[in-house]
Amino acid sequence: MAQVRQRDTSSDSDSLQRPAAPRIVDRSGMPIESQQTAQLWYLRVEEDARLQRAALDATANAIVITDTDGVIRWVNPAFTTLTGYSAEEAIGLTTRLLRSGGQTEAYYRELWETITAGEIWRGELLNRRKDGSLYVEEQTITPVRNALGRISHYVAIKQDVTERSQRARELEAVSTVSAALRIASTRAEMLPVILEQICNLLHADGAMIAIHDRASGEVFLERGYGAMAGMSGLRVSADSGVIGHVLRTGEPYQTADIWSDPHLSQIHTGRLNESLAVAPLSAQNTLIGALIVSRAMIGGCGEEIFNDAELRLLISIADIAASALRRAELHEQTKQRLQRLQAIHNVNITISASLDLGVTLGVLLDHVIEQLRVDAAAILLFEPRSLCLEYAAGRGFRTHGIEGVRLALDDPAAGKAVIERRPISLPDLSQHTPFVRARQIDGEQFSSYYNIPLIAKGYVRGVLEVFVRRAWKVDADWDESLHILAAQATVAIDNTALFESLQRSNMDLALAYDATIEGWSRALDLRDRETEGHSQRVTTLTMRLAHALKVGEEGRIHIQRGALLHDIGKMGVPDAILLKPGPLDSAEWVEMRQHPTYAYEMLQPIIYLRPALDIPRYHHEKWDGSGYPHGLKGDAIPLAARIFAVADVWDALRSNRPYRQAWDAEVVRSYITAQAGRHFDPEVVRAFLALDVDV
Ligand code: C2E
Ligand code: SIN
Ligand code: SIN
Ligand code: FE
Ligand code: FE
Repeated sequence: MAQVRQRDTSSDSDSLQRPAAPRIVDRSGMPIESQQTAQLWYLRVEEDARLQRAALDATANAIVITDTDGVIRWVNPAFTTLTGYSAEEAIGLTTRLLRSGGQTEAYYRELWETITAGEIWRGELLNRRKDGSLYVEEQTITPVRNALGRISHYVAIKQDVTERSQRARELEAVSTVSAALRIASTRAEMLPVILEQICNLLHADGAMIAIHDRASGEVFLERGYGAMAGMSGLRVSADSGVIGHVLRTGEPYQTADIWSDPHLSQIHTGRLNESLAVAPLSAQNTLIGALIVSRAMIGGCGEEIFNDAELRLLISIADIAASALRRAELHEQTKQRLQRLQAIHNVNITISASLDLGVTLGVLLDHVIEQLRVDAAAILLFEPRSLCLEYAAGRGFRTHGIEGVRLALDDPAAGKAVIERRPISLPDLSQHTPFVRARQIDGEQFSSYYNIPLIAKGYVRGVLEVFVRRAWKVDADWDESLHILAAQATVAIDNTALFESLQRSNMDLALAYDATIEGWSRALDLRDRETEGHSQRVTTLTMRLAHALKVGEEGRIHIQRGALLHDIGKMGVPDAILLKPGPLDSAEWVEMRQHPTYAYEMLQPIIYLRPALDIPRYHHEKWDGSGYPHGLKGDAIPLAARIFAVADVWDALRSNRPYRQAWDAEVVRSYITAQAGRHFDPEVVRAFLALDVDV
């Protein structure tokens, strides 16, 4: 079958009315006119014209042909679909018909200068349809020349790219918010940024972050902005309302009529007409709350509800916000844990230095109040001869009532803790009226009570009691702190009772430290799901290597703590870098290379961890001096860090990372062998190969 190729129309005169005479070729491109009859030739021309016309009619792109003044001569049906103007309406008018005011005069001047110069113009225009609605079109205007080489017409091909350009704007908005959040490191700094940006982006006049408090089953309206500012700090039920609905379904929700919505909101701003959109905030597959925006509806209903693009944007911003908030939470948790370690250390010093129980317990209770953020605390000692609990020390009380306390074991709070050997909580004292100790604590206005028995070597020594005057919720961290402080109180009491056990009590305390560090290191691994268990495995391997290299017992204790905390500095590295699924760019590397320095800055204030700092600080130094952050070389790198480096790289390469899959054991072994004398201390590599690690 012969093919038909259209001749270059731009040099053909009046190609619009009459299609150009086609050049008929066979498959190899050889002209075959000579083989055709004239009749057949004309039939073809007519058929070609019909086919071309059909193609122009069927194409999805709008096509406009104008004369050199921009007067429309011909449009295809897609033009009518795009703009709403029929061919009859458009022909004879100029293309200015579609102008929306979205471009400057200069923009059109540039366009016209391009096409009158005979060049093709390509670009985007914000135009207006017949019905007044706006759309973004991508347009290519090609000048068409007549036989004399003069421009006679312009052919414009238009495509509706509203959707595409909307996406581009969304991406831009998302990156603005990400950039703003990257600078903020605490929750307090992040919340206003999130709320302000979302209001700007969605032209909303109110926004709010609501957090799901699982312990109480309530929604905490943490921070409102604009029209929703007045709701900051309120709590509402998670069982009803739009927020509750979003938390239950995990799906975004929007309502244009808050008054008749089936999930009637408890969070309306009191305005007569407003539309509301709510997106779930979820971090690591857990719903932590919701991001809400509100917009006043001026003209009643209809136009001001949030459209699909706006909802998409809200969801994207909610995702970014959730991950930033998680980062802030981890950061703040880490700071709290550091403080707690410091506190444990201070108490330890006091306990070792003083054998006066009154002084020791006083210092301890100061820490209890500060660390647990409670209002008052007391220690009752168990008197084995009389089987009574007697007041020994107290802090934070307004009255002296507590000082006379002497309780038998049938007391339903402290006594019960002794008999059942477990903590007792009375979170709502108003439900226990009269509280058995009403007389002693009359006038204190406590609302909650918690205690924990102090048990040493199987004997109950006493009870630590804490009291709160406000509405109060405990979480796992608080509970852990209570247990650690109770262990310290027990040690203190035990110390004075039994001098000879001093040595052993210190050991108990060291255990409490190490339990804290281990829990903390697990929390660090959790930030990056892919490295779960990494710290623990690396620590085990480092300890084996240290043993093989004859590091003494004292040194190994510090190596263990250092290894567990080696990447604590990654706390300071944003998610966008840490969890990036591909290679890091140079700016990101600068940030990533800070992590040993961050670790040093975070841990250095804790005296007890100072001997353990070598690993967090120097684990990325390399034997040949090419490592970071100090570029130390050979023996100048502390031995602990040289040992650790091999273990870390082994485990890193044996695990999946966001940026690559795990390597096979043999491949990693030969890599480590090859790096002896470059990345690694050859002695350590020898010891490593001798261990024959296989997992
Ligand atoms: P990490 O994942 O715990 O890796 C620790 C060390 O193991 C690395 O230190 C490197 O010496 C070695 N290692 C890990 N993966 C590879 C690998 O695929 N090839 C080779 N040859 N060695 C590997 P380094 O390079 O200083 O990196 C420090 C941290 O920077 C890494 O800790 C990781 O959190 C991050 N990182 C490194 N490269 C990338 C990357 O391409 N993308 C992302 N998102 N993060 C990276
Ligand atoms: C204009 O000049 O109004 C726009 C040009 C065009 O769309 O062809
Ligand atoms: C610094 O680089 O100045 C602090 C970190 C360190 O000394 O390891
Ligand atoms: Fe590291
Ligand atoms: Fe590591």
